[in-house]
Amino acid sequence: MYKLAGTICGEVGLHKFDFAVAGEVRRNEYVKVWNELDGWILGRVVSIIEAEKKTATAEIIGYKDERGFLMQPKNTLSREVKVFKADQEFIMETLGLKSGGIYLGLLEGRTIPVYLRKEELIQKHCSILAKTGSGKSYTAGVLIEELLEKNVPLLIIDPHGEYISLKYENRNVEERKQMEKFGISPRGYASQVTVYTPSNFTVNPAADKLFRIDGINLSVTELYDFFPLSDAQLGVLYQCINEIKAKKEFYTIEDIIKAATASKSSARWRIIHFLERIRETGILSDSPTRIEDLVKVGKANIIDMKGVGPKLQQFIVYRLCKEVFEGRKMGKIPPFMLIIEEAHNFCPERGFGQAVSSNVLRTIASEGRKFGLGMLVISQRPARVDKNVISQCNTQIILKVTNPNDIKALSRGLEVMSTEMEEEIKRIPQGVALLSSPGIEMPILVDVRVRRSEHGGRAAEMDEEESTAFESEDDEDEGEEMERGERKSMLARWLV
Ligand SMILES: Nc1ncnc2c1ncn2[C@@H]1O[C@H](COP(=O)(O)OP(=O)(O)O)[C@@H](O)[C@H]1O
Ligand SMILES: [Mg+2]
Repeated sequence: MYKLAGTICGEVGLHKFDFAVAGEVRRNEYVKVWNELDGWILGRVVSIIEAEKKTATAEIIGYKDERGFLMQPKNTLSREVKVFKADQEFIMETLGLKSGGIYLGLLEGRTIPVYLRKEELIQKHCSILAKTGSGKSYTAGVLIEELLEKNVPLLIIDPHGEYISLKYENRNVEERKQMEKFGISPRGYASQVTVYTPSNFTVNPAADKLFRIDGINLSVTELYDFFPLSDAQLGVLYQCINEIKAKKEFYTIEDIIKAATASKSSARWRIIHFLERIRETGILSDSPTRIEDLVKVGKANIIDMKGVGPKLQQFIVYRLCKEVFEGRKMGKIPPFMLIIEEAHNFCPERGFGQAVSSNVLRTIASEGRKFGLGMLVISQRPARVDKNVISQCNTQIILKVTNPNDIKALSRGLEVMSTEMEEEIKRIPQGVALLSSPGIEMPILVDVRVRRSEHGGRAAEMDEEESTAFESEDDEDEGEEMERGERKSMLARWLV
C-alpha cells in the first residue's frame, strides 16, 4: 500500500541512514521506515549518489510520541529494512503542519499545503531574508494577501513603491497557469489598499493620499529628532520657542524660523538652515495623518517612499513607529502588523550606519508582541540588520542567500540551521523558501504560492545596477543603497 523507495544498506547511524534506491527518489523527498520499538519514523533524503547502484542518504526527523513530542529513535535502524515514500498524513503529523491559516505555499515537491498561524505571525514577528531577486517582496506580497483575507490591519513601509500593485489582480500569464496547482484565483485588493506619499502628487501621482506629520507646536525635542544640534544651537532653539510660546497658543515652523532670524546668536544660521530644509520637504502640516486612519481593520496602508531621501525616510519610520506603538499601548488602534522592507536601512546592525528609527524598531521587536503589534522584517542583507531585531523574529522565511557573511548571520539567528541547510540555501531555486516557525518541528522547504494580486517588484528588477550594488560581496557599499536613483529628487538633498 505504501510506495517503496528502497532498502536500508551501508551506513546506519542514529541520525542518518543510507538506502539502496528502488525506483524514483529525489533529494528532499520525505521517506519513512518502520522500527520495532518506535513505529514509523520520518526521514528526509539529503543526498543521492549515482554509482553502480543508486544510493541515497536520509536524515532522520523522528516520530511523534503519544504526548505529541517529536522523538528520535532509541536504537539504530536495522539493515534490510524497507524504506517507503512518506504519505501526506504522516508528514503533516510528524512535522506539525496544520491546515488553515496563512497559506504560504506547498511543501516542496509535494501537494501538501503549508500554513502559518496568524497569531504566530503577529505575536512572534516574522522575517524574510534573502538576496535580491530571490523573491522576498513576492513572498511578503503573499503574506500580505493572506493577512488581508483575514482582515488583519497592515502598515507597510515601502521604500520602492512595490506594493501599490496589490490593488490589481495578477495578470502574469505564467503565474496564472500555476494558480490551479496552488488552489487560488486572481484577485486585486483595491478596496482594502491605500497608498500614502510623504512627498507630493507630482512626485508620486499614483498615491491616494498625502502622509503628513503634525507641524503645530513642535517642541525642541521633536526638532532635535530631525537633526542633532550642538549645545549652543539647542540653547537658541529653546529661547526662540519659549519666546513664541509666551505670545502664541499655536505656532508653526514659520514662527520658529522668524524668531531664530531675530536672534543675535551666531548659532542661528545653522538652525535657520535646518529649519528651512524641514519646511521645504513639505512633510509638516496642520492636518497630519492620523494613526487611526493608518491602522484599520481589513485595510493595508502603504507609506510609499518614492522621491523621499534616506534620512527623511528614517525619520518618518521613527515618528510613525513611535506613534503607532504608543497608540497601540493606549488601545487607540487595533492589533496590527507592521511591514518593513529594506529593514537594514531602518535598523542597521552596529557598524553598518545609524538610523533614528533603530531604537523604536528594536523596542517594537522586543515588546510589540505584548501589545499585539507584529513585525514583518524584510532585508537582502541579514548581516546588516540589527541582531536584536532579527533574533526576535520567530518565524523565519529564508530564500536564496549566497553572501558568506549573511549566511553566517542567519546561522547565528537560527538555532536549527545545519551545515546542510547552509548549503541548501545557497542553491535554493527562485520562489522556494526555507521556513522555520515555532509551530513546525523542523525547517522545511516551501514552494511559495503564486500571487493573487500583481507583483510590483518586476519593474525594479530591471534596475540591474541597483541590484548588483546591493549584492556586493564585500561590506563596503554601505550607505549607497538608498541614495541610488533618488539623488535627483528634491527631498534627497535633505540632510546629507
Ligand atoms: N513564489 C514565486 N512564484 C513565482 N515567481 C516568483 C516567486 N517568487 C519570486 N518570483 C519571481 O522572482 C522575481 C523576483 O522576486 P522579488 O520578490 O521581486 O525579489 P526580491 O524582493 O527578493 O528582490 C519576481 O518578479 C517573480 O517573477
Ligand atoms: Mg524586493
